[in-house]
Amino acid sequence: MAEAKLHLADDRHVDLPITRGTEDEVGLDISRLRADTGAITLDPSLGNTGACTSAITYIDGEKGILRYRGYAIEDLAENSNFPEVCHLLIRGSLPSKSERDDFRTRMTRHTLVHEDMKKFFEGFPPSAHPMAILCAMVSSLSAYYPEDDSPEELDLNIIRLLAKAKTLAAFSFKKSIGHPFIYPRNDLGYVANFLRMMFAVPAEPYDIDPVVVDALNKLLILHADHEQNCSTTTVRTVCSSGANLFASISAGICALWGPLHGGANQAVIEMLDRIAVDPDGCEKYINLAKQKDSGFRLMGFGHRVYRNFDPRALILKKSADALLSKLGVDDPLLAVAQKLEEAALSDDYFIERKLYPNVDFYSGILYRAIGIPTDMFTVMFALGRMPGWIAHWLEERNSPGARIIRPRQIYTGATARPWLPIDKR
Ligand code: SDX
Repeated sequence: MAEAKLHLADDRHVDLPITRGTEDEVGLDISRLRADTGAITLDPSLGNTGACTSAITYIDGEKGILRYRGYAIEDLAENSNFPEVCHLLIRGSLPSKSERDDFRTRMTRHTLVHEDMKKFFEGFPPSAHPMAILCAMVSSLSAYYPEDDSPEELDLNIIRLLAKAKTLAAFSFKKSIGHPFIYPRNDLGYVANFLRMMFAVPAEPYDIDPVVVDALNKLLILHADHEQNCSTTTVRTVCSSGANLFASISAGICALWGPLHGGANQAVIEMLDRIAVDPDGCEKYINLAKQKDSGFRLMGFGHRVYRNFDPRALILKKSADALLSKLGVDDPLLAVAQKLEEAALSDDYFIERKLYPNVDFYSGILYRAIGIPTDMFTVMFALGRMPGWIAHWLEERNSPGARIIRPRQIYTGATARPWLPIDKR
């Protein structure tokens, strides 16, 4: 196996084995570094540290490449549907016809949630953020389906989670507007069922628009996985302690909520709303984003991995235009977003730092066109990311020699000192 040599200041050196991935990425294996040298590496925010090897998703940040199990995101977004991508990420392959039918039947049959769970919603105030409800509800599923030891039981819990998460999300929306819950129908697919549970009202028929179904399928596919992002790393870390599937995914939902991560899609729309009514327009906010002490960032811009464009943003930008014209929706925020993108991409500050629109920059425009309220945007991100989180949870749980994830640190606090009684401090 190839090696790298690490020379320490005191003339000691260690040979580090190299792990090379299927896309020729190179990892220096430091798993024996502390044992052999007493030293550790230090990489706050882990931007240069691989936490694992993974066979699920590949990103080339320089070339703007994103593939799920080897399939290009552009092909999947154009040709696939969300349940099929769930099968791909979780089972490792696109389904055959019989596998597709079986997966779809099982996903459909487990869309209902236990009637007792409806009582939980009564405890939340109408103003509760739907992400607070979703993380609580997903964690509570372990109270109803505690076992995931046998492969069959675990597989059933995976199906339950995929199927019930959309019901819980729709119920949280209905709760927030004081409408009665709409129950799922077994004759509808994943996206159509979700749309009906979100927008149907008992008093009148609800027509499912295939244009909207197609747009939402695409949105969910584009969010389905993204290798070791913050929330997926959270899921893998919680999994490594032996925690059950629902607890681990609930932790991922909490991590996703932050405005630097999945919460950015809500923050983008709030930012665009602010710019739209500000007579100073985009320039003011571009300049604010460049001032470190302003505390303002251009939400939906920048990415830890993509140093070129985020391929998902390109697809969403095109889809936003197409969807709004198909639905005859005129959303002034689209023009603000396009103007802001144009201004930022011609500004040296953003060019030098390779800051481009990310997946969150245009997604909110599409959610709005579909009628999804802003505080549900990150819930939509979580529904999309569910199969990715599950796939990584399984990979972590099944990885040979899996151990609890427990990094080290460099201590910089007070050295040893004696305890003193209060009158001597
Ligand atoms: C997602 O990891 C994933 O894969 C996440 C995700 C997924 O699918 O799971 O892709 C989803 O979370 C997308 C990102 C959504 N977040 C946002 O849009 C929030 C705005 N973006 C940033 O806060 C930031 O770009 C991050 C959080 C996305 C990335 O942060 P990094 O990698 O830690 O970058 P950084 O903060 O070190 O910034 C590098 C430089 C800094 O300037 P300098 O100190 O070099 O002078 O770029 C600047 C930053 O100040 N910068 C920005 C900026 N993003 C970075 N300046 C203004 N506006 C921004 N948005």
